[in-house]
Amino acid sequence: MSEKSDRQKELASSWKNIKPLRQMIDELPHLQTSFVFGDAFGIDIQNPDKHSLELIQNTALALRSWRKGPFRIGELFIDSEWKSFIKYDLLRPHFNLNGKTVADIGCNNGYYLFRMLEDEPKKLTGFDPTALFWCQFDFINHFVKSDISYELLGVEDLGSYGEKFDVIFCLGVLYHRSDPLGCLKSLCGALEKNGELFLDTFMIDGDENIALYPKESYSKISNVHFIPTISTLQNWCGRAGFKDFELLAIKPTDTNEQRRTEWILGESLEDFLDPNDSSKTVEGYPAPKRVYVKVKR
Ligand SMILES: C[S@@+](CC[C@H](N)C(=O)[O-])C[C@H]1O[C@@H](n2cnc3c(N)ncnc32)[C@H](O)[C@@H]1O
Repeated sequence: MSEKSDRQKELASSWKNIKPLRQMIDELPHLQTSFVFGDAFGIDIQNPDKHSLELIQNTALALRSWRKGPFRIGELFIDSEWKSFIKYDLLRPHFNLNGKTVADIGCNNGYYLFRMLEDEPKKLTGFDPTALFWCQFDFINHFVKSDISYELLGVEDLGSYGEKFDVIFCLGVLYHRSDPLGCLKSLCGALEKNGELFLDTFMIDGDENIALYPKESYSKISNVHFIPTISTLQNWCGRAGFKDFELLAIKPTDTNEQRRTEWILGESLEDFLDPNDSSKTVEGYPAPKRVYVKVKR
C-alpha cells in the first residue's frame, strides 16, 4: 500500500488483532517465486525449505477467513469459500485491460487484480476498507511482487482520492451501500470520459421499478440494503450519469460457486438458504441471484 492517509490508518486500527497478522507477513521468507494464471492463482516456489513452507502455511491459516480465491502457493491450496474464477470467467470476454488504468472497488484480497496482471494494464489499484483482506493481499503479493496498489479505502473515498480510471470493477458491493445512487455517482465520477464500469449486484425478478429492502438481514447478511430489479438498476445507472447500459449475464448463486471450506471460519451458502426450499433464503426472500452489467461514463 502507498503512504497511508489518516483515514486508512483509522480503518486499519479499527480491525481487531491486526498487529500479529502484520508481523507474520513482515516475517515471511524471501524466496525465488514465479506466478501462474489459472482458476487458482498459482505461485511456484524454487527450492523451498521446510521451515519456509511451515511459515507460509501458518500465516495463511492465521489469515482466515479466505472468502475469495482460490490461491496456490507451492503445494499449499487455499480453497476459498468462493470459486471466484466463475465470476471472473463470466466477465473475461467483455474486457481488455491492456495499457489501461484499472480500479477494483471492493477488491477483497485482490484475487481479480492478480488475474488481471495477465492483460498487462498500465496500472492496477484495489480499494477495500476491510483490514483483514488488505493483510491477505499483502501476504499473496509478498510472493507475487507486483506493483498493484492496495488502498484501504471504500467507494465513498473515491471523490477525495483524486485519480480517475479507464476501467472500474465494482463487484458485489452495491447492495452493501445504504445509498446505491450515491455509490454509483462516486463510481461515475472516478471514471475517465467514455470509461467503463463493470458491476454486479443481487437482483430480484420483475419488470417494475422497485427494490427489495430486507427487514433485518438477507441470506443472513445484515448489511444488505437495496436489491433492485434490472429495470431499477438501469434507472439508477442512468440517473447517476452512466450511458450504454449493457446486460452481460444473470446468474443464481449455487453451492458449486459458494460453499463452506476449511479455509473459512463460520457459515456459507448452504446455511443461508431455507433447508426445505432452496429457492428461498432463511428469511423467506428469493434466493441470491446476481446481475452483471457494463455501463459507460
Ligand atoms: C461480497 S464482497 C465482494 C468481493 C469481490 N468484489 C467479489 O465480487 O468477489 C464485498 C467486498 O466489499 C468490501 N466493502 C465493504 N464496504 C465497502 C465500501 N464501502 N467500499 C468498497 N468496498 C467495500 C468488503 O470488504 C468485501 O471485500
